[in-house]
Amino acid sequence: MKDGQFITMGIESSCDETAVAVVAEGRTVLSNIISSQIDVHKVFGGVVPEIASRHHLQNIGSVYQQALDAAGITIEDVDAIGVTCGPGLVGALLIGLAHAKAVAFATGKPLVGVHHIQGHISANYLSSPELAPPFLALVVSGGHTHIIDVKEYNRFEVLGQTRDDAVGEAFDKVARVLGLGYPGGPLIDALAKKGNPQAIEFPRVYLEKDSLDFSFSGIKTGVLNYLNGKRQKGLSVCEADVAASFQQAVMEVIVAKTMTAAVSRRQKRIVVAGGVAANSRLRELLGQACRERDIAMYCPPPILCTDNGAMIACAAYYKYQAGMINDFTLDAHPGLPLQMQEKAC
Ligand code: KG4
Ligand code: ZN
Repeated sequence: MKDGQFITMGIESSCDETAVAVVAEGRTVLSNIISSQIDVHKVFGGVVPEIASRHHLQNIGSVYQQALDAAGITIEDVDAIGVTCGPGLVGALLIGLAHAKAVAFATGKPLVGVHHIQGHISANYLSSPELAPPFLALVVSGGHTHIIDVKEYNRFEVLGQTRDDAVGEAFDKVARVLGLGYPGGPLIDALAKKGNPQAIEFPRVYLEKDSLDFSFSGIKTGVLNYLNGKRQKGLSVCEADVAASFQQAVMEVIVAKTMTAAVSRRQKRIVVAGGVAANSRLRELLGQACRERDIAMYCPPPILCTDNGAMIACAAYYKYQAGMINDFTLDAHPGLPLQMQEKAC
């Protein structure tokens, strides 16, 4: 407790960000320290799991201390320790988990395992203090593309998800074939602003009628074939048009399926989360579709869209309030399904 407020620490290390944050009363961010490994992995064009684990190990101690210092507290003031237990890279997850368990063991503080997607959704509670379930969530990141019915703080129904690549992964791969660099999402977003979104007709994959699942492998191949075709004929390519047309095709499908889900579930609020929630075209198209149907759209600021510890602390707060506390058998689950978060973590 600090000034009568319940203090939660959140630790996140599922991919390439070593992050620790301190949150008061589940909603107020006191500190949010993120050590990104983007520069380390850039040269490889993507995250190298073994290197990620090594960097988490090197950084976790100092990121942890910085989070306490920036919040102006000591570990004695912390009431619960939240940590991502899955899904993610197993070696990366284990570093955050080992640190959280060690601190919990040494101090006697309760330990709360958090599903990474629950964390992303919870980022919206930090940026929108009045928001509470039920609502519909669209989680779009480098590892996930999910449409979720959020029934309660800790109760979820996954309505649709990707059957192959996650949307952020598709952005990263298309950026690579365009020679833009890593991570590709923000680079395509920026380049697309200079291009024509209607210039090239890339495939929009809707799958079976009424399906809320996604598939992005077709459009990825579509971009590759388009570029190869042009290059083989010695023709020049307008990369800005490719970026804008690819982004438009992907976002049209995402927005259409999200709106179908919202209408069928009679949801008047849509919450967007995950790294790709920062995408400007997604925000425009979804915002427009929501306005037309009188639906409120929630989206966190970019710093809370990408992986961070504050979202994990927030989710851990609500799990703790519901009595969902873990013992030291808490383990890393690289493929943890969201519906299993109550039991597995
Ligand atoms: O949530 P996040 O930080 O990590 C995962 O849990 O995966 O998401 C990272 C992903 C990357 O694929 C990155 O390219 C993508 O989010 N991303 C974007 C944008 N900013 C980040 N994709 C499209 N447009 C953006 N503006
Ligand atoms: Zn994430």
